[in-house]
This record gives sequence, structure tokens and C-alpha cells, in this order.
Amino acid sequence: MNRIYLDHASAWPLRPEARQALADAATMAWADPTRGHQEGRAARDLLDRASATVAFALGADERDLVWTSGGTEAVHLAVLGSARAAERRGERRRHVVCSAVEHSSVLRACERLRTEHGYDLDVVGVDASGAVDPDAVAAVVRDDTLAVHVQHANHEIGTLQPTHELANACHRVGALLHVDACQTVGQLGVTLDQLGADLLSASGAKFGGPRGVGLLVLGPRGRIAALQEGDERQRRRRAGLEDVAGIAATAVALEVARAELQTAYSSREVVRRRLRERLPAAVEDLQVHGPLADAHPGIVAVSALYVDGEALVGELDRAGYAVHSGSSCASDSGRPSHVLVAMGVLTHGHVRLSFGPSFDLAQADAFVATYADTVRALRRRGGLG
Ligand SMILES: Cc1ncc(COP(=O)(O)O)c(C=O)c1O
Repeated sequence: MNRIYLDHASAWPLRPEARQALADAATMAWADPTRGHQEGRAARDLLDRASATVAFALGADERDLVWTSGGTEAVHLAVLGSARAAERRGERRRHVVCSAVEHSSVLRACERLRTEHGYDLDVVGVDASGAVDPDAVAAVVRDDTLAVHVQHANHEIGTLQPTHELANACHRVGALLHVDACQTVGQLGVTLDQLGADLLSASGAKFGGPRGVGLLVLGPRGRIAALQEGDERQRRRRAGLEDVAGIAATAVALEVARAELQTAYSSREVVRRRLRERLPAAVEDLQVHGPLADAHPGIVAVSALYVDGEALVGELDRAGYAVHSGSSCASDSGRPSHVLVAMGVLTHGHVRLSFGPSFDLAQADAFVATYADTVRALRRRGGLG
């Protein structure tokens, strides 16, 4: 059966160029990049080139890029590492803000600051499209606010946040803006300046790099202190031997993603709009979430009354479609997605479709037909059709 993979927001397939770079680097540059021998210098050279490429793409200085083990670690470094750096400088800023629709890694890192370090935490709500109101953030930031942590695009719905306006609200009180751009680096033209961010986190697996490589970049005001210590690597911001091969492959993946940015955006935007239009027309009692404009081009989220999300995912999988039923933090718990709950929208029978540029209109139409048949069949089975 021809499989159609619609879960790019969880893990984008490894790009062939990145796979090649990974194999080449693992063969040629496996040594410790801090060592002075020839093997070490080869690894250093590759690491420096990858850092320069990625930092340039994100509008940062390469000295202000920190490689991590993925988006989750980058986010933790931003949330907990910025607090640690401020404490070390003797700053008395002990208040942080995040939105209710953040990825679980951001929510839990902020919660940890509150419970383990005694910080005040304000979690701001969103409207029915999943957007944060900059005025709501402006109303809660204070003179002692250290940072506001907000995503660029929501991982479940695709809603883009008004980061520039949020930056203004932060900077008025001297707070930092950390943007979790895990869903948009490599998907949209993202730079520190363009987002107004002081800290920006990203995940290589979301744009076709190898799994387990993430990064945090710092703007001129961004400061972090390491969360684990042990050596002087990465300007003492993150200890431990770097995954040079993975990092080299991540840089290649970002270059390829950036080269196709415009075409990948346009083709997916057409498909996204078609799905938003055709899904509710194909079957009754559906809700498509998120805004029509100001959205990630490759994410569509839809809920259906009278069906179970996991059953729907299972049936679609059998029909050849790989989709996801909700946020990764909620999928094991059986609880409705915190994102949909915060938006106040239908949480039943939820699936997220996240697609790459090769998913075309004909495939989207075929998906809509299968989806509608599947929803009807499940409703009949449940005695509701
Ligand atoms: C918005 C967002 N932030 C952070 C993460 C965590 O990234 P990783 O899976 O690389 O740890 C994800 C992953 O889905 C995400 O979507």
C-alpha cells in the first residue's frame, strides 16, 4: 500500500542530503573537536562550519549558538538557563510568563521554575484561534519579569503568534522574549530580528535533520547559564561532547529547507486551504481549528463529534495515512489536548495533519474522501451514524 505520511510536525523525514552528510561526517569527523590533533581539528572544522551556517540563517552570531540534544533541551536551557544566569548576575527578576498553548516542554520547564525555584508564573490564555493577545501579556509583565516564553507556531493547530508585539511588551519592562520556534525554523523565514526574540529554540528533526539535535540562539540581550556542567565547551553554556555528525547534518538540512522555503510554503498553503474548505463539507459535525491567515502552512487540525481520536488514527493508519491525534504530552494520558482546551474548542475525535511539500491537491482530496468515510463508519459502529 502506498503510505502517506502526515506527521511532519512530530518528525520530518530525514532529508537525503542530511543522511549523506551524517554518513560522511561520521566517517571523517568523529573525533573530539576540542582536541589539537588532526582528527580533532577535522571535527572542529566541521562543527565551526555548521555553526556558522545555522547562526547566519537565524540572524545570530555563531558564538551565540548553543547545540543541544533536541528542542526539549533547548527550551529547558532557555527557561531554566536564563533564570540561572540572572540569579548569578544578582538580578531580582523572579517572574516568568508563558502561554497556555505552549509545548509541554515549555509548560513543564516554567512549572519547574515555579515549584522548585519559587518563581511566580503567569500562564496567559488564548482566543478561539489559539492566538495570544499582546495586551494580555502587557497586562501581566512587571518590573521583575525575567522572561516571556512563547512559541512561534503552535505544534497542534499551526497558529502563528504575534511575536513582535509580544517583544514590545517584554522589552518595555526589560524582560526577555524567548520564542520556541521548533515548528517554524526551516519552514518559514525565521530570524531573531524578524521575531523580535532574545532567545530562539529549534529542533533539527522538525526540518529534516537527524533526530536528537536541537539548538538555542541568543540575541544581544540573551543570557543563559549551563544546566549541566563538566567542561568548557560551547562557551560553558552546555557541557558534553557535541554530536558533530548530527550537527553537520542539521546544518545541511537547514540549508536545503531554506533553499525550498518559498516553493514549499506556497504549495502547502494551497493544500492547507483546500483541506480547511473540503473537510467540513465532506462530513457533518466537524470543527477545523486555527486561523485562516497567520498560520503554519503545513498544519491542519480537525475535530469530529461522536468519534474517538485514537480510533480514528488507527483506522486512518490502516487506510494508509499516518496522522497524529493530539499533543505528544496528552497522547499517553487519554486526556484532551491542553491546546484545544485552552482554545475552548471541540476536543472530540481530534486529528492533526502535518504535511510536507510533496503532499498535493489530488492526495489531499483523496484523504478527505477516506477521512469522511472513516468518520462515518466509526460513527455507525458507535451507533451514532
Ligand atoms: C513547539 C515545540 N516545542 C518543542 C518541541 C520539542 O522538540 P524535540 O522533540 O526536538 O525535543 C516540539 C516537538 O514537537 C514542539 O513542537
